[in-house]
Amino acid sequence: MTARTPVLSCLTALGLSLAAMSLPTAASAADLTVGFSQIGSESGWRAAETTVSKAEAEKRGITLKIADAQQKQENQIKAIRSFIAQGVDAIFLAPVVSTGWETVLQEAKEAEIPVVLLDRDIDPSGKELYLTAVTSDSVHEGRVAGEWLVKTVGDKTCNVVELQGTVGASVATNRKKGFEEGIAGHPNVTIVRSQTGDFTRAKGKEVMESFIKAEGGGKSICAVYAHNDDMMVGAIQAMKEAGLKPGSEVLTVSIDAVPDIFKAMAAGEANATVELTPNMAGPAFDAIVAYKDNGTVPPKWIQTESKLYTAADDPMAVYESKKDLGY
Ligand code: AHR
Repeated sequence: MTARTPVLSCLTALGLSLAAMSLPTAASAADLTVGFSQIGSESGWRAAETTVSKAEAEKRGITLKIADAQQKQENQIKAIRSFIAQGVDAIFLAPVVSTGWETVLQEAKEAEIPVVLLDRDIDPSGKELYLTAVTSDSVHEGRVAGEWLVKTVGDKTCNVVELQGTVGASVATNRKKGFEEGIAGHPNVTIVRSQTGDFTRAKGKEVMESFIKAEGGGKSICAVYAHNDDMMVGAIQAMKEAGLKPGSEVLTVSIDAVPDIFKAMAAGEANATVELTPNMAGPAFDAIVAYKDNGTVPPKWIQTESKLYTAADDPMAVYESKKDLGY
């Protein structure tokens, strides 16, 4: 772990804003210890993010300490406090929900430990409390999904059921908002049911079963929109068990681009997914190394790409290219 020096007031005069954080002494990546408060392992995407983070740390010779919060914010807060007590050089946080971080992030700031948000955001009131956020544009992801559906169904009436992510997570709020924007102005496409499936396969299946029951066996359902692929994989299973044909009778669109959704696509049981890269840590490590090395302040938001995949994209080839990447 590296030592820190106080902020030099002349930097302000030179127009260099360090956002009231300390000026770090030059450090090589190999000197750095980063604590990562990870949400848990609710989805294939999450498992891949953890695997990729370890690999990216190893590549740079960074010591990475990962604390699995098992979906609980209180565990994340405890982990952050423990990282502060250990004097790590930086903290990565994948915030399970978007609110309730001010106190603990203020403590990190007072300890002069930069915090980087990974894959989820916190409320704007906490903006001054972290150095940068490496995330996708999750409103855009939802919009891409909605626009794909509108384009695919044309003028046909389409009743959509929605499987939401974890309640209170920035990505769940944003993916819902984006999808609603994507279908806006197309009154033939409407969300008829919407409930959380907590980003898990098991809950996705369970909630889809209840949607099918409530929709009289599911024949009135035209499409399923799921905030992640794992819930969609569960929903596909539920539809098949109910005698429905996902991918043809019932359209599917979801987010993440995990290998299993490409397998389903290749089998004609899924239609579209929007990719979320599991490599959030790579850009975050680069930002921290530059910050520690020469005080470079990264942009407040390091945005990752969101690419739409459909059955036209050779799903089996995509499956093969992704299947060994830690999902
Ligand atoms: O925050 C990213 C989301 O969290 C992923 O889309 C989902 O699979 C995960 O649980």
